[in-house]
Amino acid sequence: MANSIRFFLNGQKQDVVVRPDTTVLEWLRSGPRLTGTKEGCAEGDCGACSVLLGDVVDGEIRYHAANSCIMIMGQIDGRALVTVEGLKGKTLHPIQAAMVENGSSQCGFCTPGIVISLAGLAASNATADDHAIHDALAGNLCRCTGYRPIVEAARKVVEEGGASIPGPAVAAFAEMQPADEIAAFGAMFHQPRTLDDLLRLRRDRPDAVLLAGGTDLGVALADFHGDWDEVISTAHVRELRDTGETPTHLTFGAAVTWEEVLARVASLYPSFATLIRRFGSTQIRSMGTVGGNIGTASPIGDGPPALIALGAEIELASLDGRRVMPLEDFFLDYRKTALKPDEVIASVRIPRPAAGQDFRVYKISKRYDQDISTVCGAFSVVREDGIVISARIAFGGMAAIPKRVREAEAVLIGRQLDEEAGRACAAAIRDAFSPLSDWRGSAQYRRMVAANLAERFRRDLSGEMVEVMAL
Ligand SMILES: Cc1cc2nc3c(=O)[nH]c(=O)nc-3n(C[C@H](O)[C@H](O)[C@H](O)COP(=O)(O)OP(=O)(O)OC[C@H]3O[C@@H](n4cnc5c(N)ncnc54)[C@H](O)[C@@H]3O)c2cc1C
Ligand code: FES
Ligand code: FES
Repeated sequence: MANSIRFFLNGQKQDVVVRPDTTVLEWLRSGPRLTGTKEGCAEGDCGACSVLLGDVVDGEIRYHAANSCIMIMGQIDGRALVTVEGLKGKTLHPIQAAMVENGSSQCGFCTPGIVISLAGLAASNATADDHAIHDALAGNLCRCTGYRPIVEAARKVVEEGGASIPGPAVAAFAEMQPADEIAAFGAMFHQPRTLDDLLRLRRDRPDAVLLAGGTDLGVALADFHGDWDEVISTAHVRELRDTGETPTHLTFGAAVTWEEVLARVASLYPSFATLIRRFGSTQIRSMGTVGGNIGTASPIGDGPPALIALGAEIELASLDGRRVMPLEDFFLDYRKTALKPDEVIASVRIPRPAAGQDFRVYKISKRYDQDISTVCGAFSVVREDGIVISARIAFGGMAAIPKRVREAEAVLIGRQLDEEAGRACAAAIRDAFSPLSDWRGSAQYRRMVAANLAERFRRDLSGEMVEVMAL
């Protein structure tokens, strides 16, 4: 058992004795006093606290931006952390230099976070186009400069061939393996490597926090300044990090991140990929996992409606064995699921597209980027000779749980997807729900929007409409 957290900070080895549930932001600013990393919202929205996290993947170090305000010290054990102070060598990092030249900063509060996000992009995507630049900036709010000079600075660096991140050599990671357990100041952080070890911990320590990427749990921790005396992390569990492909299905371990899911589904389900690109920001998608999105059981989560409409199945595991169920059966009531106290979500399995299948998912939110859905509607039909032979429709934001709408599916079966079918489907959707009113939208608005999405789906398939701002 270790009593310290070991990682690279701006290329230098660190061995830090700190409670593992301390947020990385808090430690950076109060420990080494690296105050370039700012606190804005403290809930993953503004990007002022962005840092780069590096891991060895396929023999090279890959960095991605993450929000240090909702990430805890235990999560950086064995990894490389880069703050804005670590980007500059003898001269400014090319992104910093380009931002200065382009007048890309005014008050400067957002600037370190923006520099970090763009440095992450410049290191990972040497051919980044404007979409990729906008995508990289979706999690960074600037309230005074305006984004044009920031985007121009990014373009300049990309056109000049990108820029690497200064950091440790791959070989140096060999002696930086994550500890199985870290205990400090009365707090314990477990990092099991196998599903069996995870399940034993889950059974023996039912009160421990089960942590994946922490993009949901970390918000509550940061907001309420709570303590997590015991945490079980899924981040290093091999089986949960696995992805698999068969001729009929794709499988994602529960600890696979949304950024990783995106890479796998982009060509098979482009509409799902568009949804995932609107899932939080690069920072959120790089940490947030598919299992965490399902486990949190939010009625406005984006993954579940899309996955239900795709016919996903979920595998739950405990020391007593495994069981598989359709994802729609997992959600029982508001934030109540079929998961037993000693179980974990092991994986999610989605079928490959069938012949004649069309799938679309629509996210309706107040902002295009980095916003939670007011309504999320997912539609999948399989047609033979123009006739619908199967349909799956699911919504988020319309009920206490992500919900499949069998009544609306039934009206489509055996007919063409014409105007009349679209109207019948819309009416069935309207009748199926009694949503809540909240600040995101009234019940009336939600029912109207959800019903209209049926019409949008029909028009989309008939070629009348394209994705709004499709990336
Ligand atoms: C700024 C911001 C933007 C966001 N935008 C979106 C968005 O656009 N759409 C959206 O849907 N969500 C969004 N989220 C919510 C969040 O990012 C997602 O729900 C994410 O997928 C959660 O995954 P995680 O790994 O971070 O979960 P965690 O926070 O680690 O865990 C969430 C819950 O799942 C449980 N859990 C985790 N893994 C397992 C497992 N293997 N078995 C059983 N239970 C498990 C945990 O115990 C916890 O209860 C956003 C969050 C933030 C902070
Ligand atoms: S402080 Fe706003 S995202 Fe972290
Ligand atoms: S420069 Fe002031 S918030 Fe961006």
